[in-house]
Amino acid sequence: MDLVRRPRRLRTNPAMRDIIAETRLHAEDLIQVLFVRDGIDHPTEIVSMPGQYQHTIESLVEAVRSAVDAGVKCVDLFGVPRDEDKDSEGSAAWDPEGILNRGIAAVRREFGDQVVIMADTCLDEFTDHGHCGPLTIDGTGETVVDNDRSVHLYERMAVSQARAGAHVVSPSGMMDGQIAGIRQALDEQGFQDVSIMAYSAKYASGFFGPFRDAVGSSLQGDRKTYQQDPANRRESVLETQLDLEEGADMVMVKPAMAYLDVVREVADLSTVPVAVYQVSGEYAMIEAAAANGWVERERIVLEALTGMRRAGADLIFTYYATEVAHWLSQGKR
Ligand code: PBG
Repeated sequence: MDLVRRPRRLRTNPAMRDIIAETRLHAEDLIQVLFVRDGIDHPTEIVSMPGQYQHTIESLVEAVRSAVDAGVKCVDLFGVPRDEDKDSEGSAAWDPEGILNRGIAAVRREFGDQVVIMADTCLDEFTDHGHCGPLTIDGTGETVVDNDRSVHLYERMAVSQARAGAHVVSPSGMMDGQIAGIRQALDEQGFQDVSIMAYSAKYASGFFGPFRDAVGSSLQGDRKTYQQDPANRRESVLETQLDLEEGADMVMVKPAMAYLDVVREVADLSTVPVAVYQVSGEYAMIEAAAANGWVERERIVLEALTGMRRAGADLIFTYYATEVAHWLSQGKR
């Protein structure tokens, strides 16, 4: 054939493919998500997330050390309180002796500024009903999550996390006005330098399933009145714009793989770094298929994360961060 253009020329060997690769993963782009649980004396593997653990404070510190040693620069911490410490407001969330704040403090004490410590700023792990904020009865007699009271409680939680040593707070509750409220509360308490990672476009997703195990969630019902409908894209533009106006330092889309069009959309409009969250169900699906020998585990993990970067994410929250950082240091991609 008389072809001038033969795109296959640039795919002829590994070195050629390497020099033209547009998208690369770096350990610095990965955020290791970790769980710390109260009232246990040894780390407990999460059944639906093989290889991931509910940590004790001690094993949390060791997990952060492994991440740092591998070249990961940020960890995102979630707390799992004892059942008896849950209440209708989630008050263990802002208690300085609450499990998440103790975890943050232990990591900060051990690592200082060597690693960026991000804290999950949401009440669902801490409320006895499992919702992301306190409930109220609205004008029609329905039980609903009280937006404005939730935001006030997030403010207290964020301030307590900053006090414990978090560099970044990350409100994931999808309440309106949560970024503005938290920014003002942090500033009033002298935490101007604590950043906010906004969960801007967070969808009511079935892919969060295994996370509910991971945090021992007591959720009755669903989160569809505050998290976004998977059918909608435009709404993510509005949510992101509002969070930017309210002072978000970074924005996020969650989950990842079913929402890469949204990542691209947000990346194109955002004036701040964009993150994406590869959630528990995405992890569980890969692990389950790989355990059966149906997919090549390492290959599809790297492929999934590369796709997220290609879609426009600067940062990726993933349960694989430490492991992938090791692969990257071996020159894999
Ligand atoms: C809620 C929260 C959830 C996740 C992170 N924060 C669950 C939910 O919204 O129901 C999910 C994370 C994952 O699935 O990996 N604050």
